[in-house]
Amino acid sequence: MNASTQPVVTAHRPEFASWLGNTNEITRTFLAAGSIPDLINLAGGLPAPELLPTDQLASIVEEVIRQHPAETLGYGPIEGLNDLRLTLAERFSTASLRLKKENILVTTSGMQALDLLGKVLLNEGDPIACQFPTYLGALDAWRPRQPRIRNVAFDSADFDAVAALKGVKFAYSVPNFSNPTGKQVTEPVRHALVDAALASGTWLIEDDPYGTLNFDGQNPPRLINLASNNNAAEQYNGPIVYLGTVSKQIAPGLRIGWVIASTEMIEALTLAKQGSDMCTSGLTQRVALHALRNGLIESIQSRAVDLYRERRDVMCKALSTHLSEWYEWDVPIGGMFVWAHARNPQLNTNELLKHAMQNAVCVSPSSVFDATGTHQQALRLNFTLNPPEKIIEGVKRLASATRQLMESN
Ligand SMILES: Cc1ncc(COP(=O)(O)O)c(C=O)c1O
Repeated sequence: MNASTQPVVTAHRPEFASWLGNTNEITRTFLAAGSIPDLINLAGGLPAPELLPTDQLASIVEEVIRQHPAETLGYGPIEGLNDLRLTLAERFSTASLRLKKENILVTTSGMQALDLLGKVLLNEGDPIACQFPTYLGALDAWRPRQPRIRNVAFDSADFDAVAALKGVKFAYSVPNFSNPTGKQVTEPVRHALVDAALASGTWLIEDDPYGTLNFDGQNPPRLINLASNNNAAEQYNGPIVYLGTVSKQIAPGLRIGWVIASTEMIEALTLAKQGSDMCTSGLTQRVALHALRNGLIESIQSRAVDLYRERRDVMCKALSTHLSEWYEWDVPIGGMFVWAHARNPQLNTNELLKHAMQNAVCVSPSSVFDATGTHQQALRLNFTLNPPEKIIEGVKRLASATRQLMESN
């Protein structure tokens, strides 16, 4: 058929699903960021590119394809490769946390785990409790399921874990160096959350991509470890669902994550995963397994901790020099982010983003970490991606943008 004889399409096309209408101006601004030359990106949550183990991964890829052609190049089990599940079960087991491979699901990244949890737990309108402010990707993963989100500030003086978890399908927490605030949930709050989950039976999701990036010491115990003390002799069967990923530990491009949970939850997630991607790449599972078994993860971790501590210090010093008139922040002891809170309530960070983009610096305004979009007084600043001189220049540009915004008010 040539162009002139093609029928004119006049029929009304079905509409896209309603949740797609919920995107906002901020998301569009981020999408435009890629086209701005010399933009300094303080918005993302990306590892330093110089830490990516390029040569090691290239030779591991060759080795695992030659040694395991069927596993790396074929379809595999939905739950993940046996060897990887066994290795993860062993790595996370303790005297009181008894894990078998049936407690482990390998996922195509941490994001997939969040998506699958939404798939198996949420019906439209179900209530969930999220540590506030909340990881943007979790909000994105659950938005199509249209839950009712209860924002809970775990660090507020009147935090009440029993009230927070009452009646919800699940509660969501990033206890170590949270995205976006970089803060840790304190040990008493961890105990309170776990006790409330054990008493009510509510699922409690412990999302932990940043736990290995502690610059100054040891983390408080994991929620899943706190929940397992009571039944030391038995295989883990508690309400905590622990999520891990290699994205911040090796390379986000591998897209390997894992869920540690009761077998009942793993079985439900496996059914959901079958309809999502059938299986995670055997190639990148084998690569991750190799990295876990041969100490690659630990060697990257110790370099990452040193490099990121230094970059955190560079950023906090630059913030003190150029931005302390307008913002306050806590120095994070780990992770990838500083959370800068505006001193003046008139300083609206959605508005600031426009000025920041004109000054060729991109930051994440707090509204994207709030399901209601109403928190507009803070910024998430990433310190891991850029070298010191770019961090300093980015902060200077942010100071110019803030000055312009405040003068225009
Ligand atoms: C809190 C949190 N959870 C999950 C993820 C997802 O990580 P990935 O999908 O790369 O494994 C991220 C990534 O930034 C994150 O910050």
